[in-house]
Amino acid sequence: MTKPMNLDGMPNGLMEVTTWQDRLLQWLERLYASPKLYQWSLSNPLTRWITKRRTQQIFDLMSGFVYSQVLLGCVRLDLFKMLYQRPLDLQQIALQTKLSEQALQRLLLSAVSLGLLERRSQQRFGLGALGVPLAMHPGIGAMVEHNHLLYRDMQDPLGFLNNAWLGTMADYWPYAHDEQAAERAAQDKFSRYSDLMASSQEFVVQEILGSYYFDEHSCVMDVGAGKGRFASELALHAPHLKLQLFDLPPVLELAKATFQSKGLLDRLTLSPGNFLHDTLPQGADLVTLVRVAHDHPDEVVQQLLQKIHDALPVGGTLLLAEPMAQSQSQSAYGPQQTDAYFHFYLLAMGAGRLRTPEELMQMMSKAGFVVIEKLPNNMPIHAQILLGRKDKCLP
Ligand SMILES: C[S@@+](CC[C@H](N)C(=O)[O-])C[C@H]1O[C@@H](n2cnc3c(N)ncnc32)[C@H](O)[C@@H]1O
Repeated sequence: MTKPMNLDGMPNGLMEVTTWQDRLLQWLERLYASPKLYQWSLSNPLTRWITKRRTQQIFDLMSGFVYSQVLLGCVRLDLFKMLYQRPLDLQQIALQTKLSEQALQRLLLSAVSLGLLERRSQQRFGLGALGVPLAMHPGIGAMVEHNHLLYRDMQDPLGFLNNAWLGTMADYWPYAHDEQAAERAAQDKFSRYSDLMASSQEFVVQEILGSYYFDEHSCVMDVGAGKGRFASELALHAPHLKLQLFDLPPVLELAKATFQSKGLLDRLTLSPGNFLHDTLPQGADLVTLVRVAHDHPDEVVQQLLQKIHDALPVGGTLLLAEPMAQSQSQSAYGPQQTDAYFHFYLLAMGAGRLRTPEELMQMMSKAGFVVIEKLPNNMPIHAQILLGRKDKCLP
């Protein structure tokens, strides 16, 4: 169904443990498992915090589903927007949400314990530090609501690993696992996922616009442009640019409306098509590929990178941005929990997978790109950014 992850360098269960690091880690594993060490570390003020933190982390893993349901409950009641207006007490919130005070109180206290809400004077509730972004950015609430589909599909995690595409998420993304499904899909399916992508794209747009200077370019083609949110914000950010959008025909209809509403139609060229079997149009000196590669299997991504390379002029640039997996060198600084989310999300969605920056850079190199680099950006949790150039010295 999906290509196995690249596990190069990972210890093979059948192989003998040979390196000194493996031996050290195995020794530490045995040490951590010792009940005596547990008792000792709790009694020692210097190490107590480490053991307490580990225990809390295990508790969080076990109860994560409850946390996300508390969040979903608050989103569905629109509590964040409500309490952003002004703090309210239990009675006032019950009146607005039409829930009994008794039931509501559990939700509110749980949300307080998670930092989503906060207790205020006169028995009122206000926004907690984690509730503020939810009040300000509707895209986060939209993703919380959308994740409900994923969690429904994942109720039996092992059954899900074998039959991921039988769930509701696969149906939500018509193009991601079966080309015929995309051809059969009605317009409302394209609008539904394009709306979600546009509302969740805000943070990715900020990362790209804050990390790369577009001055040297004159025309940008956004491949898999969706509703055109990134491209239209780029057009406002860099008024000298012309924009070319490539996506499936029903999606580009929506992008046109976005550009029209922002008065940017005169700088726009629409190129409807399917990158599985169409070539990409020429004319742009920068191609952007934002949250597209991870939706597709390796063969499709390799082919797409090749088509982008072919469409660019010599010296042209590819900018690829999407959430990426933690590479082995990064894992020395501790695990990156967002990887777990994307591994499962992309499986539920279709045939794509989360790749490390190094894997994507290798694929870019295979397609002919040179001077490939990773741009530093502030919030890699939203997206990491890779750049590659089409060599000026072509054979
Ligand atoms: C996950 S969305 C990302 C949209 C946008 N770049 C963003 O970050 O919000 C992937 C986009 O790729 C488009 N896409 C998927 N398969 C495609 C194909 N075979 N040809 C053209 N576009 C495709 C989808 O229609 C969708 O708009």
